[in-house]
Amino acid sequence: MSRSDSNDRLFEPYDPAELLRLRRGLKSWYAKRARDLPWRNIGEPYRVWISEIMLQQTTVATVISYFERFTKRFPTIHDLAQAEQDDVLRYWEGLGYYSRARNIHKTARLLVEQSDGVFPRTTAELTALPGIGRYTAGAIMSFAFDRPGAIVEANTLRLYSRLLCLEEGPKATHGQKVLWAFAEHLLPRKNIGPFNQSLMDLGATICRSNDPDCHECPLLAHCRAAKSDRQHEIPFAMPKQQITSVIEVSVAVRNHDRFLLRRYPEGQRWAGLWDFVRFPLGDAESLVPDAGLSKSDMVPRKLVAHLELSIRESTGAEIQLDRFLKELRHSVTRYRISLLCFLASAEHAVPECNDNLHWVRAEQLDDYPLSTTGRKLAVIIQRSQPTLF
Ligand code: ADE
Repeated sequence: MSRSDSNDRLFEPYDPAELLRLRRGLKSWYAKRARDLPWRNIGEPYRVWISEIMLQQTTVATVISYFERFTKRFPTIHDLAQAEQDDVLRYWEGLGYYSRARNIHKTARLLVEQSDGVFPRTTAELTALPGIGRYTAGAIMSFAFDRPGAIVEANTLRLYSRLLCLEEGPKATHGQKVLWAFAEHLLPRKNIGPFNQSLMDLGATICRSNDPDCHECPLLAHCRAAKSDRQHEIPFAMPKQQITSVIEVSVAVRNHDRFLLRRYPEGQRWAGLWDFVRFPLGDAESLVPDAGLSKSDMVPRKLVAHLELSIRESTGAEIQLDRFLKELRHSVTRYRISLLCFLASAEHAVPECNDNLHWVRAEQLDDYPLSTTGRKLAVIIQRSQPTLF
């Protein structure tokens, strides 16, 4: 289907007999091939909700252990609502996209306050809650309540695009409109939860991005992309983002046996998480040798001076840079970051503890929710004790 013939309707619907065959084929495939996942078939909105939020931007394989630990620590929405944000973030640590955890916590508190923790049962009310979009609402509606709720997420987006032979960007406004309307068109009247799960499993295990296994697909006869042998071109790829390389530093500033941790403020990407003193080098990147730093080499004097001054300006502490520890590489959105980690000693003008600034012993670092690189640096520090002193 192309865009030019989509003025009247968004897509060519299946006729009722074909829809029936499609649903039957899917049902018998799912009876044999359903994945056994810990958040499935429990009919409990709390666990469905937690799993779906975790599964946004994160793979099933990664989510399983996080989900199990999280729901063991916070078995009910009341436990979650009562928890401190630090505790919630500690159990989310490493999953990334921390606004998800902050929103989960906010929503738990809101629901406990408003309805003693009972979830609403309409899409409109669900999507009014922090962090719940159309997909998560559809998942809660169908998986937990077996009520009509369409879903379009990464796996079903690919599957629907191929079934329709969608010749436009599936994430662009119009493409999304087509896919959501198609998801509604497919929905049966009963057993909506298992139906949606089977679509998702089919997308994940058969209708894969690079090598779709069309011979094994129960929906092959209904797939308009496969009919014209275009399953490898569809869905259309999103334009690639330009990647920018930057250098940042993270400095473990110690005062005797304690290390300085700061909490990222509201409004920042890592709001609520704690970290060592971390900042981008900006123009001072030119002070880093092209070959990078190594543990055995001296840190260039100008770079030392720059770091000592930057830390004085941001914390008030007079520090002395002791040594370079390690380079950690990671990516955040479109940035490829080289994070240079240092050890430093604060001897004068040591800032006092407050809500967002703590001095902590190495073993206490386990109690704080840290950024992923903060955790790596914490482990380096803990492992190299007591030779650091
Ligand atoms: N991806 C998003 N939600 C999912 C779910 N409930 N099961 C498997 N994969 C998913």
